[in-house]
Amino acid sequence: MVDLDWSNLSFSYRETAYNVRCTYKNGAWGELEIHSENTVNLSIAATCLHYGQEAFEGLKAFRCEDGKVRIFRMEDNARRMISSASYLKMAEPPVELFCNAVKKVIELNAEYIPPFESGASLYIRPVLIGSGAQVGVKPADEYQLIIFVTPVGPYFKNGNTGTMSAVIERGYDRAAPHGTGHIKAGGNYGASLTPGMLAHADGYDNALYLDPKEKKYVDECGAANFFGIKGNSYVTPASSSVLPSITNMTLCTLAEEMGLKVERRPIPVEELSEFSEAGACGTAAVVTAIGYIDDPETKTRYSYGDKPGPWCTRLYQAVVDIQHGRAEDRHGWNTVLDL
Ligand SMILES: Cc1ncc(COP(=O)(O)O)c(C=O)c1O
Repeated sequence: MVDLDWSNLSFSYRETAYNVRCTYKNGAWGELEIHSENTVNLSIAATCLHYGQEAFEGLKAFRCEDGKVRIFRMEDNARRMISSASYLKMAEPPVELFCNAVKKVIELNAEYIPPFESGASLYIRPVLIGSGAQVGVKPADEYQLIIFVTPVGPYFKNGNTGTMSAVIERGYDRAAPHGTGHIKAGGNYGASLTPGMLAHADGYDNALYLDPKEKKYVDECGAANFFGIKGNSYVTPASSSVLPSITNMTLCTLAEEMGLKVERRPIPVEELSEFSEAGACGTAAVVTAIGYIDDPETKTRYSYGDKPGPWCTRLYQAVVDIQHGRAEDRHGWNTVLDL
């Protein structure tokens, strides 16, 4: 195993030994290739550079107490990449290709998988790019699927023991009403940089976006889905501009099993005052409780306490217990590797 300060890793890129790649050309995907360099050689007219033919994924693998490595909901990430590729008119990597590539890149970089109970994990980043040259605005005829891994610590500085703050950025949208918010297109993240930086400059951990059409409903919390707890309900936005989070799908299932009612529906901003807890969820954020949300326009602060509430804590624990093989994986979410 490489020598790293595993318990103090940040959520940042660290080069590892290998990445895997697969090229689509002449109408077919080729063989999986193993690379040790972390650069790509591209045509200067590649469509990913000009016309946003780029989509990515993010998932994690965990070293567990039983010595095995578990990858969480990999097939769901494969399916989401297909949906992104379909919308951006890119070649769609089949689920089997995607999953084999993920397993291979983890195996090749086994010495970078953080040890059990370090609080860190191996973050897996598949990226699909249009690599074929075009000058007119049209899809490329060549694509590359590249998957790299990097060991990471918590996304937010307080990890999942503290809370984070958010500010409603009414002046900005990360995606258009009938645009690309529902897929993991790189362009959405470019569009989120200005509001994200503004939120940080004002002292907040995250920007909270409202629905881009009416600006009445809660959409997403930075690069994470939003949920609130109201009475006995887990409430999360139904919106065409929100990324379908695999963590949120997981929480909906777990919440229901815990006896909560799951409500997927538009959440009017004012309803933020009726939640006993609020949280952000995603592969990177896992379940991060929200301490408060400020709405500068109405000068309102929605407060949820400075520690994660009971449901945020319970849901967080339930997810990480499954991911780390401590709880029974009743839904078959984990792919188990003997490495
Ligand atoms: C905009 C956005 N929303 C939500 C999520 C959470 O999705 P997931 O739980 O699949 O990681 C992510 C991260 O992938 C994201 O980038």
